[in-house]
Amino acid sequence: MREDAFYLSEIEKRLTYDRFVHSLNVADCAKELALRYGADPAKAYTAGLVHDIMKDAPKDLQREYVIKSTGGTDPVLMSQKALWHAVAGAYVLEHELGCDDEEILRAVRYHTSGRAGMSLLEKIVFTADFISADRKYPGVEEMRVFASRSLAEAMEEGLNFTIKELCAKRRPIYRDTVDAYNEAVFAKKEGE
Ligand SMILES: [Fe+2]
Ligand SMILES: [Fe+2]
Repeated sequence: MREDAFYLSEIEKRLTYDRFVHSLNVADCAKELALRYGADPAKAYTAGLVHDIMKDAPKDLQREYVIKSTGGTDPVLMSQKALWHAVAGAYVLEHELGCDDEEILRAVRYHTSGRAGMSLLEKIVFTADFISADRKYPGVEEMRVFASRSLAEAMEEGLNFTIKELCAKRRPIYRDTVDAYNEAVFAKKEGE
């Protein structure tokens, strides 16, 4: 595992200024959520820093890494470009940037799609990406309240938002996202 300073310089090189700032904000937010919910704050910070490391890479390159990582056999994954940077990011971090922390790699890999059985760290990065200081979409304030109250609520809201948006755009929904959504609905009900 390399130091944060190394990953910071990597994201600064690879990302647009706005995305770089977003990554710093997600890192700060993930650290705060980790302190609130009992995850490792240093790991959460690092995962937040690197979560979008491949987001500004050319789509063809992202696609190449998705194929290297998964074999390119899932038609939904291969048709949904928005998912590629997460899969490609985890692959590049592991194979080219010395990241050997499985938890951080999974937090990057699943920060867009979600999955069933997400770890606390994965949920934290997923949620931090929705509520980081730079986010301005309608409803972000409510999401911040959910996240301050309960991670289960924030996950359910976030996945609900993701699925609604995909349906509105008539896009297919990746299996992992459906699994994450179902699990989040059950988890929220249990917490009620
Ligand atoms: Fe992302
Ligand atoms: Fe992000």
